[in-house]
Amino acid sequence: MPDASEVLFEITKAHLNTGLRGIPVGTVRTSSVDPYKGLHYVGYPVMDIWEVGPEAAVYLLLHKELPTDEQLAGFKANLVARAKGFDTSVFALLKELPKEGHPMEWLNAGLNFMGMTTKTGDYREDGLNVIARLPQLVAAIFRIRSGWGDPIPSKPELGLMENFVHMLGVPGGDNEKLTKMMRVFYTLHLDHGGGNLSTFSGKAVASGLADMYASLGASMAGLSGPRHGRANQDCLNFLRTVGTTDPDEIEAFVRQRLANKQLIFGFGHAVLRAEDPRATIQYALGHQICPDDDLFKTAIAMRERAVKVLKENPKVSNPYPNVDAISGTLLQAVGLEDSDFYTTLFGLSRCSGIAAQVIDERLNFRNGKGVAIYRCKFIAENQPRRG
Ligand code: MLT
Repeated sequence: MPDASEVLFEITKAHLNTGLRGIPVGTVRTSSVDPYKGLHYVGYPVMDIWEVGPEAAVYLLLHKELPTDEQLAGFKANLVARAKGFDTSVFALLKELPKEGHPMEWLNAGLNFMGMTTKTGDYREDGLNVIARLPQLVAAIFRIRSGWGDPIPSKPELGLMENFVHMLGVPGGDNEKLTKMMRVFYTLHLDHGGGNLSTFSGKAVASGLADMYASLGASMAGLSGPRHGRANQDCLNFLRTVGTTDPDEIEAFVRQRLANKQLIFGFGHAVLRAEDPRATIQYALGHQICPDDDLFKTAIAMRERAVKVLKENPKVSNPYPNVDAISGTLLQAVGLEDSDFYTTLFGLSRCSGIAAQVIDERLNFRNGKGVAIYRCKFIAENQPRRG
């Protein structure tokens, strides 16, 4: 905990309307983001622990220590029991939703429904239930919205991501590769410090004592924006427009886009100032699971050439790839070709981290009193006193 009298940050007018960039507003126990070393889960660099697996990573965020074998087995059994309480009547709702709706809108509709029928009102209980049950909701969204058929019955004993891939039942999919990918994807997207937009929004809504489902709904609305979670969808669509794997042509493509004042998707980050370790891990995974995929080759050349070109501009504070630069490429290579769904996969994972942070803020912080209702100050502008 910071010393109560220590000045952490001097706020000047220049900080106003900058999205609270860099301004401390609270503490966080689950994860932190170092500008150069990237994401850490409870102090462990993600680079060192990403292979612990989804359940152990979630346990770490909840309990602030890695589980022993016995603790992990107990936690998995707990999740299995909770998964069995999933209310499948949500499927009837999903079948009525307009296909024009984005999958993130479907996710929010499903989350709200889950809250209406199964919420307990206890943040810890509801958080654990969401962690255990969300794979069923997201898999059903994929199947119903894609027209792949009815939801496939859950087998939670398989494990969180193994069961998710089983329930997806991707037509013609390679479940072994998809499971390998989803285990990594899920582990890497769980949490990213306390101040990313979806996490912040969810905690803010929970601070008004809205329940876990409403809070996660707010988070997922935040995640759905193209500057946040939907960047993985947009990034893959961007890579699909490049149309070549040749590094020189890719460099020319990047230069042309910059000359046209167009974005290079997947590069840069509000906090990071080096390559995002979540991207580094996924580039390495791509070399294992899809080395010959053309889009993967494009992404690899982009990693080298876009960085080279962006570095030439001293105004670019971070020319390096972030997590979205590569995740969609691997997802399409293992059979999930419709990029519209990518943000729901991000949400599936991120809900677990946000749930852990909401539990901390509501039940643990300030000696159990919880964080006060979020109420920051906006300075009146162009409002001359009229009375
Ligand atoms: C995230 O994982 O939430 C994104 O990298 C955005 C952020 O950290 O602000």
